[in-house]
Amino acid sequence: MSATAIAHTNIALIKYWGKADPALRLPLTNSLSMTLDKFYTQTTLNLQASDQFFLNNAQQTGQSAERVFTYLHRLERRLQLPTKHYLVNSINHVPTSAGLASSSSAFAALAAAFAQLHHLDLTKQELSILARLGSGSATRSIFGGFAEWQTGTDQTSYAIPIDEHPQLDLQLLVVELDQAPKKISSTIGMQRAQTSPFYQTWLDRNPSEIAQMKAAIQAGNFDQIGKLAELNANEMHALNLTAQEPFTYFEPATIKLIKLVQDWRADGLACYYTMDAGPNVKILTSLKNSKVIRQRLAQLLPSAKIVVTNFGPGVKSWSNSDME
Ligand code: DP6
Repeated sequence: MSATAIAHTNIALIKYWGKADPALRLPLTNSLSMTLDKFYTQTTLNLQASDQFFLNNAQQTGQSAERVFTYLHRLERRLQLPTKHYLVNSINHVPTSAGLASSSSAFAALAAAFAQLHHLDLTKQELSILARLGSGSATRSIFGGFAEWQTGTDQTSYAIPIDEHPQLDLQLLVVELDQAPKKISSTIGMQRAQTSPFYQTWLDRNPSEIAQMKAAIQAGNFDQIGKLAELNANEMHALNLTAQEPFTYFEPATIKLIKLVQDWRADGLACYYTMDAGPNVKILTSLKNSKVIRQRLAQLLPSAKIVVTNFGPGVKSWSNSDME
């Protein structure tokens, strides 16, 4: 008997950047994201005599395997299940060019495969809580479309769907400028950001940023969604630059692209940017403008790789029979 789950990566438009409780991965603010169709993780769990983790068919040892098994055994204890050993096979369906391997899809898929293997009949909220214990952003990958992860206690901090099938004309262009693995993980980056003198402002502004984003989504107002997402990303990156031990994820090409997006917008092309814990830029635009932007990118940043993405679905899981 084995179980498989598929979960898609999400990109936060209002970001999670700070923990109230690191052990329980409780966030200091609400966050809101878009689940993407092009990037996902497929994970199959089998029981076997010892723990083994394969990622894209290559056996993993060291930190990444440790994180996976610490997580699975933590779920067993939490759910009062006997200790077992697992063969974990994960495939990251991330176009090799995108540099977007993400813990959001990884831990959402792992949580769902675990629940399926152990025949736990969980609600999406309960699944989101389990995903949270692996990686904060994974809470939101339980749902498709737009999802919000709420602050709260261990029992109440989970994601909720905002609109799982948005009809909005929105495309996200993932522009890969640098394939190097991130130098400062999100876990460490957000810890350091909390020492910024602007951190309290970040916390204070969150309720209204979330409310405005939800209103913009409900109204289908692309420009307002883009403006709010760009502002929030700039706020997050400003915290990093003003941390006690300052740092930035920006590379020269990041700044170049930010300025291009600003110029294009000044020329009347509706587009906005957001960035996470790395140098790559994601451009929010419409179907109509996507082609022009891609043509310009090809001219001005010929080495950049672009993946066009749209809204993706929530997590799915199933059991495989022994016969397979
Ligand atoms: C910038 O979910 O990777 O992408 O909970 O420590 O695993 P951990 O962090 P993680 O952080 C994601 C940070 C972000 C913003 C976001 O996705 O909300």
